[in-house]
Amino acid sequence: MNENIPIHEYDVVIVGSGIAGCSAARELHRNGKKVAVITKLHPLRSHSGAAQGGINAALSKDDEIDLHMFDTIKGSDYLGDQDAIELMCTKAPETIRWIERMGAAFTRNNDGTIAQRPFGGQSKPRACYAKDRTGLTLLQTIFEQAHRDGVTFFDEWYVSDIIYKEGKVHGVVAYNIRDLEFAIFKSKATMFATGGYGRAFKVNSNAHANTGDALSIVARHGLPLEDMEFVQFHPTGLAGSGILISEAARGEGGKLFNSEGERFMERYAPNKMELAPRDVVSRSIQKEVLEGRGVGPNKDAVFIDLTHLGEKVIMEKLPELRDLALTFLGLDMIKEPILISPTAHYSMGGIPVNIDGKVRKSCSDFVEGFYAAGECSCVSVHGANRLGANSLLEALFFGRHTGESILRDLNDKKLSNPNVVFEDAKRALEEVEKILKSNGSEKIAKIREELQESMTNDAGVFRTKESLLRQQEKLNELKARFENIRIDDKSKVFNTDLQEAIELGHMLDYSFFIVEGALIREESRGAHYREDFPNRDDDKFLKHTIAFMDENGKISTQFLDVALGKFEPQPRTY
Ligand code: FUM
Repeated sequence: MNENIPIHEYDVVIVGSGIAGCSAARELHRNGKKVAVITKLHPLRSHSGAAQGGINAALSKDDEIDLHMFDTIKGSDYLGDQDAIELMCTKAPETIRWIERMGAAFTRNNDGTIAQRPFGGQSKPRACYAKDRTGLTLLQTIFEQAHRDGVTFFDEWYVSDIIYKEGKVHGVVAYNIRDLEFAIFKSKATMFATGGYGRAFKVNSNAHANTGDALSIVARHGLPLEDMEFVQFHPTGLAGSGILISEAARGEGGKLFNSEGERFMERYAPNKMELAPRDVVSRSIQKEVLEGRGVGPNKDAVFIDLTHLGEKVIMEKLPELRDLALTFLGLDMIKEPILISPTAHYSMGGIPVNIDGKVRKSCSDFVEGFYAAGECSCVSVHGANRLGANSLLEALFFGRHTGESILRDLNDKKLSNPNVVFEDAKRALEEVEKILKSNGSEKIAKIREELQESMTNDAGVFRTKESLLRQQEKLNELKARFENIRIDDKSKVFNTDLQEAIELGHMLDYSFFIVEGALIREESRGAHYREDFPNRDDDKFLKHTIAFMDENGKISTQFLDVALGKFEPQPRTY
């Protein structure tokens, strides 16, 4: 064991520097705690910055917090935990004012109030926005403030393990991507805010970094993951690449057409039309394509038409979207419809946490000193399907709230001192050494491509028992082939070959959870649609799945009751 590994000591280590991570870090640092934020990117490249369309809050006079709650609960297909949803929706207006006063430049109405636009599944225009760069605006604001206050950031450091012993997380093991030098970060509290896992699918709107590393790191220690079967497909990704075309396009009045010129949402959601929630619109598009009414060179897309909005509105409200369509499709949305299709966008499932961000050890117990917030976590405010513009709210609100919860636990002396020895880095060091020495015949890129392709085909928008069993078999094959990889770059300097291999290992592990959860859940709810079980089954499945992986990779699942509240489950129509 290398006893030269430095051991850094902090009160709190936060992994991930998007909106959730920076919000928590700022809160803790301002309250006198020694905080380190570790990120495999530069903070401003965090995927929070890619969220385009808005952040929800019942701000206007004719909106209500109860209505925001109801829309979120109905949107979640009643799987969302109502205590967490109530907290988030109640605190949403205050959260907007908090970030606004830090300098976030929201788009305004003529009277100076914050402008709000309609989004899918919402009863009122509720998404506050900064043109179509809302996530970037919020990320820049919160990072700037955390940085200005003096939070310590470890940029381009890769966290490869947690130190988990005796029911407590004592910190993390990480290496500097620049030179592969390892360090142990020991801390009384550790928080994960690492984002989602959409890269497991071929067409996705996620950054290359969204490989869900944290989930597998947690699962490999025998800790559970929750509701992993719920993966959101955003209806409007640019055809081919999957790059996000914000829901703001539909919010501002975009219309969807098939190859026959039909505004086909009339068939599927006659009341809400294009502004039905994402699960409904994505399935409708996919159905049009499968039934032969797709458009584009491969007939696998549909049109979104924004031409009626005119140049002024598009340039004022959707400039980024126009740019993206021009750059990646060569189509100008001011003059012509553009081609879109569903794209894997958001992970409703993740690391199970309670309302204060504490990570679960089981259905009834929690890990000491371990917290999570944002997309990597499952609190669960989105249940089976997230409403657009609730993710920025979740990240900003629960990031700060989890920071406050850690602060309370530190001040109340609820967290014992971390106990760390060099041997705690063994697992991480061995993983790197094994990959560097690998000399097999399989290529990382090839396995990843097959993973993404097969997950899209067999565990995507539509699923059946047959397709999921096929995918389970495929995952077993890919996992076996992963044991026989070879990376060509054996160096220590910015070794992206090595990093991609580690990430692929994580992607394979959490994909097993997605498929297993989808197999067990013999119903259709929100984003999880089983063609062989097309109805929701509240008697059996109004429950969260809590899944554990053993040392042989076998997954076992338990069920956790949904926190119900004042909104009783009802049939979900739009
Ligand atoms: O469509 C969008 O602008 C994405 C927003 C979101 O996922 O909340």
